[in-house]
Amino acid sequence: MHKKLILANWKSHKTKSEVLAWLDHFATNFPKQVLADFELALAPSMPYLNLVGEYLQKLRLNKIKLTAQDVSQYPLGKYTGATAAVQLVSVGCRYVLIGHSERRRYFGETPQIVAQKIDQTLENGLQPIVCVDDDQIISQAQALTPQVRSQLIILYEPLSAIGTGMGQDVPAVTQAVAQIRQQFGQIRVIYGGSVAPHNISEYLMITDGVGVGTASLEVKEFMVLIEKLMTAN
Ligand code: PGA
Repeated sequence: MHKKLILANWKSHKTKSEVLAWLDHFATNFPKQVLADFELALAPSMPYLNLVGEYLQKLRLNKIKLTAQDVSQYPLGKYTGATAAVQLVSVGCRYVLIGHSERRRYFGETPQIVAQKIDQTLENGLQPIVCVDDDQIISQAQALTPQVRSQLIILYEPLSAIGTGMGQDVPAVTQAVAQIRQQFGQIRVIYGGSVAPHNISEYLMITDGVGVGTASLEVKEFMVLIEKLMTAN
């Protein structure tokens, strides 16, 4: 049995000084015993992966999974601007978000590109967390072999719920989780979209975890969310 996963995705937010301020507050206030029952993952922007990884190591918090928000579909080589999976491994990443709706929408990622990125990730021993909206469940599954499908964590993120403060209805999430398992097999499925302290417990009851964007940006709000986990458990 896996622990429920809480994934904080900072997206393209924060400067270096803001990252350090977040970590400093986190370091002094984080109740480490949460990690006995929950798995935590932190996804800063690429330039801060190394910094965050070393900071977590220093705090002996390396149980928290350092997560990249994207990866190149190509290996090391002549691909200016791209970050290869093996480079993520070399700075301590263990998880990689792939095909987030913002990647699909603003960067033209297709199910086929997502499939290539998943291959790179798996070949390098990283855990892919693949994002899908309702209308991508089938097309994304079809772009992958059953063997690849069985190795994924899926982050179900309906577009209408992302960053809007309007989380998806619980019955609709339950239905989507079932459809995802039908297509991908009995894998871990987590939910993302306006997860906040007031609704996290509901989503955790019907999923294997949550992805948290907005509510992870302010460290104090994120700590409230963490405290909620302790009381819910
Ligand atoms: P949100 O973002 O929590 O701000 O809705 C979720 C996500 O896109 O991962």
